[in-house]
Amino acid sequence: EITDARIPQSSRNPEIDRMLGQKPRLILLNKCDVADPNLTARWCEYYRSKGILAIPTDCKSGRGLNEIIPGARQVLDEVMKRREAKGLSQKLLRMMIVGIPNVGKSTFINKVARKKSAKAGDRPGVTRGKQWITVDQGLELLDTPGILWPKFEDETIGLHLAFTGAVRDAIMDVETLACHLIQLLAQRKPESLAARFKLVPEEGMDGWALLEAGARKRGFLISGGEVDLERMAHILLDEFRGGKMGRITLELPEDLERGADPSGVP
Ligand code: G4P
Repeated sequence: EITDARIPQSSRNPEIDRMLGQKPRLILLNKCDVADPNLTARWCEYYRSKGILAIPTDCKSGRGLNEIIPGARQVLDEVMKRREAKGLSQKLLRMMIVGIPNVGKSTFINKVARKKSAKAGDRPGVTRGKQWITVDQGLELLDTPGILWPKFEDETIGLHLAFTGAVRDAIMDVETLACHLIQLLAQRKPESLAARFKLVPEEGMDGWALLEAGARKRGFLISGGEVDLERMAHILLDEFRGGKMGRITLELPEDLERGADPSGVP
């Protein structure tokens, strides 16, 4: 299951737990290149405490991808031993990528498929369509990912998905969205605002005040000395999504532990 390391909770659909049942799984914390490395390590630890192996990956550069096959074998170890004990032959193992849109499923499959060009179904007479790519001896990967829809259980999940661009349809106007983002950044990573916008959040400043101050610092003015909030909003969202504001993770494992566990991780 691929998730976005910047929003590990909101980029999962908790339905997956029900669908997977007891099937062995790996969670990839993808886009770790733009997430806070310390928090990514804490998320891995959180999943480990739930008995799930999570691996940080950057599918663009390929970082972390080498750990997936050993990880898959580790996760499957018990199944393999059970089969062996029953005298069953070593069956071909198959894995499928699942995740909500925009987490990097296609990037992952392309990266792995390019490296291992041997496609299991790539033989004359085999209908094109879903194909199994041999990624390692006895291990195949389905070339088509399973797409899950994000689950908007509360407003925060919708907002976080919109911040990262996972949901492209406007859930609200861009200025209000940016106002929520800048407020969260002021709480979670104020230094990113100082570095990028020379903006030092002051006590009592709400999202609108922060957005306006940022626009002034950047000189986004319109006639009459008014600030161009819309321009500031677009710039803030673009820079955050593009990783220009530094490596930022918006969600902490503690957020999950505090309330009911909306991720559904058992
Ligand atoms: P999906 O199949 O799950 O819907 O996601 P997809 O692979 O299409 O990736 C969505 C976007 O995330 C793409 O950016 C892709 O390049 C980017 N991406 C995937 N993996 C990583 C990663 O590990 N790190 C970073 N920083 N980005 C990643 P895009 O802007 O839509 O396309 P492009 O401009 O990169 O071509």
